[in-house]
Amino acid sequence: MSDTATDENVKVRRIQTAPGIHDILPKDHEYHTFIKKVVRHRARQAGFTRITTPVLEFTEVFKRGVGEHTDVVEKEMYTFEDRSGRSMTLKPEGTAGVIRSYLQHGMGSWPAPVELYYIEPHFRYDRPQKGRYRMFWQFGFEVIGEDDPALDVQMIQMAFKIFEDLGLKDIFELQINNIGTLKSRSQYKEALINYYIGKERSLCEACQDRLHKNPLRLLDCKEEDCSILSELAPKFEAYRSKEDKEHHEKVKEFLEELNIPFKENDRLVRGLDYYTQTVWEFWDKSTGGQNAVGGGGRYDGLVEIMGGTETPAVGFACGIDRLIMHMKQNNLLPPSKDNIHVLVAQLGDLAKKKCLRIIEALRDRGVKTVGSMGKASIKSQLKLANKHQVPYALILGSTEVREGSIIIRDMKKGQQRHVAMDNVVEEIVKLIGEDNLDKYTPGEVSLGSSD
Ligand code: HAM
Repeated sequence: MSDTATDENVKVRRIQTAPGIHDILPKDHEYHTFIKKVVRHRARQAGFTRITTPVLEFTEVFKRGVGEHTDVVEKEMYTFEDRSGRSMTLKPEGTAGVIRSYLQHGMGSWPAPVELYYIEPHFRYDRPQKGRYRMFWQFGFEVIGEDDPALDVQMIQMAFKIFEDLGLKDIFELQINNIGTLKSRSQYKEALINYYIGKERSLCEACQDRLHKNPLRLLDCKEEDCSILSELAPKFEAYRSKEDKEHHEKVKEFLEELNIPFKENDRLVRGLDYYTQTVWEFWDKSTGGQNAVGGGGRYDGLVEIMGGTETPAVGFACGIDRLIMHMKQNNLLPPSKDNIHVLVAQLGDLAKKKCLRIIEALRDRGVKTVGSMGKASIKSQLKLANKHQVPYALILGSTEVREGSIIIRDMKKGQQRHVAMDNVVEEIVKLIGEDNLDKYTPGEVSLGSSD
C-alpha cells in the first residue's frame, strides 16, 4: 500500500491460505474426481471396502503408531491441546488411524483378511515446495490379518493397475527392500550404530540426532556426506534371518510372475517406524527418490503396538497431489463431465417462474442445465452462454409465455427457432443425443432388518 493512501481507499487485507495448503479449484477437481473414480473402481474389483477415520485423533495414535522418533512425529505433526487439555493431532498419515479403528470396532472378528481403502487429506508440517505440501491427499490400501508375500505383491500390483489407468505406469519405477522382522532389525541397528560411532562429526545435524534413536534413517539421508557414509555402512542383507530371506525371495518371484519390474534398493528404509519385512516406494524415473509418488510395506507389529494381539498386515498409500502433478507434466487430461448442455435465459417475472419448471424437467432428464436467473438483458445472458461455451440456449420472454412456446438457439450457428414449451425437453434431448445425457441412477434402497 502506498504512503499516500487515504482512509477511503484503504482496503481490508485479504486472507490467503496458509503456506503449503491449497484450495482445489474446479479444474483440479476434474483430476481429483478421476483419480478417486479409478481408485474406487480398482478397490471394488478386489473386494476392498472404504473406511474414513477422523481427521483429528488423540496424539497418542500417531506417537505409538508411527513411532516417537520419526521425523513425522518429532517435527511434522500439527498438534495442539483441545479445550479440555487433551493433546490432539491432525492425521499425518492413514495407517495408524486405520489400525486404531480396527481394534476399536473389533474387526479382528470379521472375515480375515480385512481389506480397507481410504481417500483422504493428511497434514504434515513439512517445508513447502513443489510436490510437498502441508495438506495433501492420499489414497491408501490396507490388508489386515494375513501374512503372505503374495499379499505384499498384490498391493504393489494394485498401485500399478491404478497408475496404468491414469496413463502413468511407465514413468514410475518400483524400488523394493526387505528390512526384516523387528528382531533381526535390532541386531542390524546395533551394527549400524557401531559403524557410525566415531564418524558423528561427518554427519548432518539431523543424522547426529537420529543415530541412537533411529539409526536406519541414516541410510536414506539425502545430505551428501551422510550419503557417502551410508554407502559404506553394513548392509542389512547380512543380518536377514532365514524367514526374512524366504519372504524376500517369494516377493521377487511373485513380482516376476506378474511382470512387474523392480529395483532392489538396500538403503530404502521408509520414514515410518511400523514396517517389517517388505518395504517399497514408487519413484519418478527421472527424479528418483526425492518425491516418491507412493510407498508402503508390511507392518506385522503395528496391531500389537496399538494394543491388539499379534496380527500381520500390509498396505501402501499414494500422494494424489503428486499424481496430478505427473498427469499435468505428461499432458494427461482427465475426462471432464462438467460441460453444460443448455443455458436457460429469461426475461420478466412470468418467464422466470415458467423457467423453474423447465430447468427441473431438463435436469431430471439428464440435460446439464444452468438457469440465468438474474435481471440481465437477453443479450448479456447469451453472452454468458458463449463464455461458458454452452451449445444451446433456451430463451423465454413474455410473448413466448403467452404463446406457450420457447426459443431454442444454436449458439454456434447463431440460428434459432420456436418450439412448443411442452416439447422442449425432448427437442433438446434430440439435439444433444441420448448417449450424452448425464443419467444418474443412485441405485435402489432395500429393506432389511436393523440388527
Ligand atoms: P508415506 O510414504 O509417508 O507413507 O506417504 C505416502 C505418499 O504420500 C508419498 O509417497 C507421497 O506421494 C505422499 N506424501 C507424503 N507427504 C507428502 C507431502 N508433504 N506433500 C505431498 N504428498 C505427500 C504413508 O503415509 C504410509 N501410511 C503408507 C502405508 C500405508 N504404509 C502402509 N500402509
